[in-house]
Amino acid sequence: MMLLQELKRYKEALEPALLTYFDDAGIPASLAEGMRYSITAGGKRLRGCLCLAACELACGNMEKALPFACALEMIHTYSLIHDDLPCMDNDDFRRGKPTNHKVFGEGNAVLAGDGLLSLAFEIMLREASISGDPQSLHAALSIAEGAGIHGMVAGQAVDLENEKLPHHDGETLRYIHRHKTGSLLIASILSGALAGGANQMLLAALKRFGEAYGVLFQITDDILDVTGDFEHMGKTLGKDAQADKLTYVSLYGVDGAKQMAQATAAEAIASLEEYPNADFFRSLCEYTLFRNS
Ligand code: IPE
Ligand code: IPE
Ligand code: MG
Ligand code: MG
Ligand code: MG
Repeated sequence: MMLLQELKRYKEALEPALLTYFDDAGIPASLAEGMRYSITAGGKRLRGCLCLAACELACGNMEKALPFACALEMIHTYSLIHDDLPCMDNDDFRRGKPTNHKVFGEGNAVLAGDGLLSLAFEIMLREASISGDPQSLHAALSIAEGAGIHGMVAGQAVDLENEKLPHHDGETLRYIHRHKTGSLLIASILSGALAGGANQMLLAALKRFGEAYGVLFQITDDILDVTGDFEHMGKTLGKDAQADKLTYVSLYGVDGAKQMAQATAAEAIASLEEYPNADFFRSLCEYTLFRNS
């Protein structure tokens, strides 16, 4: 199984579809420019690729999942624009370029994020209403849940809250990672699987996979904040320690975090043992463990 080729195939389907939503017609130029700046700045498109891969694992045609994959990348990009604001992580670089607020100002960056988030919902609801499929509606619902107050937004809230707290514990840390990063990754997988017509058994296995994979992804983000380089990561590193963030590295050290990443990858892989066709997901765990970007 050639993971990189598969990722390329999914990205090649995703990128042109994503661009169709940014023709800027009828939108104030300042808003259109800010949204396009961040959405076209690069990025691994992991959430979109996971959505398409899960659709295929459920034996669906990836075309069915494309609107959801695009919506996920918009929600993810909005979350990064807001995460980088001075009132949150106060970052100057993202995807190798100055952050949205550095270029367009804070007010415009908030609005570019708002625009991407609402456009994502517009796309999902249009797809669900045109197709009339209950699966599309369920896919949209799973993304709404993952993005919102029971998912990513909850994780971001607890992440911020813990910057200021003196005592840190592993349970809170897992909650933060499971929510701020895990929720949207889980939703990426489940929405794709739903769009592809997955049965309950596959959905349950993919949910277990996503629960572990999301945490794995954020543990490696914490590690790379210490061991990574700007050229590959495209963002200023060393910021977590500076901001006194609760991370796997702050709680367990780099070696401890690496061990926990290994264990979490094993957990994710084990959840799909009954699915011989799920090599994409298994290989992605290995790849994520050793990623540098
Ligand atoms: C960055 O996500 C934010 C985290 C959840 C750690 P990615 O590392 O997937 O960012 P892009 O999309 O590739 O820029
Ligand atoms: C971000 O976590 C999670 C989001 C929901 C955006 P981080 O704050 O660690 O992500 P980076 O390191 O800025 O990409
Ligand atoms: Mg953050
Ligand atoms: Mg951040
Ligand atoms: Mg980080």
